[in-house]
Amino acid sequence: MESGSIHSTRHGRAPMADNRHIRTAVFPVAGRGTRFLPATKASPKEMLPIVDRPLIQYAVDEALAAGAERLVFITGASKRAIEDHFDRDDELQRLLESQGKTELAEQLKRMLPSYATCIYIRQPAPLGLGHAVLCARAAINHEPFFVHLADDLIAADVPCLKQMAGSFEQHGGSVLGVEEVARRDTDKYGIVEVEDARSTVSRIHGIVEKPKPDVARSTLAVVGRYVLTPRIFTELERVEKGSGAEIQLTDGIAALMRHESVFAHRFTGRRFDCGSKLGYLQATVEMSLAHPVLGDDFRAYLKGVAGRLD
Ligand code: UTP
Repeated sequence: MESGSIHSTRHGRAPMADNRHIRTAVFPVAGRGTRFLPATKASPKEMLPIVDRPLIQYAVDEALAAGAERLVFITGASKRAIEDHFDRDDELQRLLESQGKTELAEQLKRMLPSYATCIYIRQPAPLGLGHAVLCARAAINHEPFFVHLADDLIAADVPCLKQMAGSFEQHGGSVLGVEEVARRDTDKYGIVEVEDARSTVSRIHGIVEKPKPDVARSTLAVVGRYVLTPRIFTELERVEKGSGAEIQLTDGIAALMRHESVFAHRFTGRRFDCGSKLGYLQATVEMSLAHPVLGDDFRAYLKGVAGRLD
């Protein structure tokens, strides 16, 4: 299978890892974002800002908080802005300092810790999420890794990937982030059946991509957070093209389950589907209300807006 060209930017030396410590996070950002056109025609949806940070920055911050230190971006057409975002910009740095905006300059410098390494792999064409994950193989070798879909923004006291890393440490198998969805929406998600529907973490015994609401066997949906064991690459390589002629990650996980236990983790937190316009607007409102500087003024403004609504 084709995989794209690789280049990396190193920001320092990474700490040592043990075998249950997850060092690598994969960010598939090669989708075309058709639900958000025309905004996503020339610029990636992962660069859409929520208040003052692009979605991909929230994603990276979550992965770093869960212990990742190698950040693998699977990029595609029109995704250059993501590389630029995480690159050092000495000229901008000097400009901010000359303008006395030292706090902002410092903030930009702190965007990535010194030990983080960014690796960019080009997905030759948007052949599906499964194919995007397979493109990361050369950068990962034989370790478990996170997969984070930046358009699923999850606001949580304990970052979602950190919660899932805890489950991985305990159980050792792949872990999928799941939440209950409305039955009418099952055909937008991978849907899992678990051994114990009441427990936070449970072994999965069935997974189906986008089942119709009348045939879905549960309403427990996989959202954009995964801990995957490296065996997934072997399975993805064998997967036939699924719905939409794409290589589906769900099909790879279904194959993985024949060899290893895979767990569902009901994370604690609120998810916003920022790949949809409504979800993006909801995230913007909620994150603005929670913003330490803007929150109070924004709340007052919203109260005024609410007063004008019937
Ligand atoms: P989506 O299903 O949201 O597709 O992909 P999309 O193309 O990004 O957006 P729409 O549906 O057309 O609006 C889920 C995630 O998988 C990545 C996307 O970037 C997104 O983070 N992806 C998808 C890839 O990296 N490569 C692919 O071939 C497909």
